[in-house]
Amino acid sequence: MITDVKRLLSEFDGITEYWSPRIIGQANDQYIKLAKLKGEFIWHDHAAEDELFFVVKGRLEIRYRDRSVMLQEGDLHVTPKGIEHCPVAEDECWVMLIEPISTLHTGDVADPRARSIKEQLADSGLTAKGG
Ligand code: NI
Repeated sequence: MITDVKRLLSEFDGITEYWSPRIIGQANDQYIKLAKLKGEFIWHDHAAEDELFFVVKGRLEIRYRDRSVMLQEGDLHVTPKGIEHCPVAEDECWVMLIEPISTLHTGDVADPRARSIKEQLADSGLTAKGG
């Protein structure tokens, strides 16, 4: 749980790698994660989990097979479970994600950028309860 104050903008200072979510807190069965994104990610889906994107800084495009949405700073978007998507950030973008502890950020797709929950928990003070 976040029992102290988390200053989102400062929390991003410690993130040096793109597409590598950092867990900063937990509420019920959801992790709160921050990530810096740049470039194109991979096409993937999350069979059992919706995925919430909140853009803190910059712009993020979420591509779907039949459309795409462009998120600006302050915008919120939810990708429904089971829907293939590919996030693309032309320039550096900062996002907050709120998702079940079971969610894998690359879905079932193997990718060198895939980070385990343990890796995402680094320095958070939380212990892994999910996969
Ligand atoms: Ni996703």
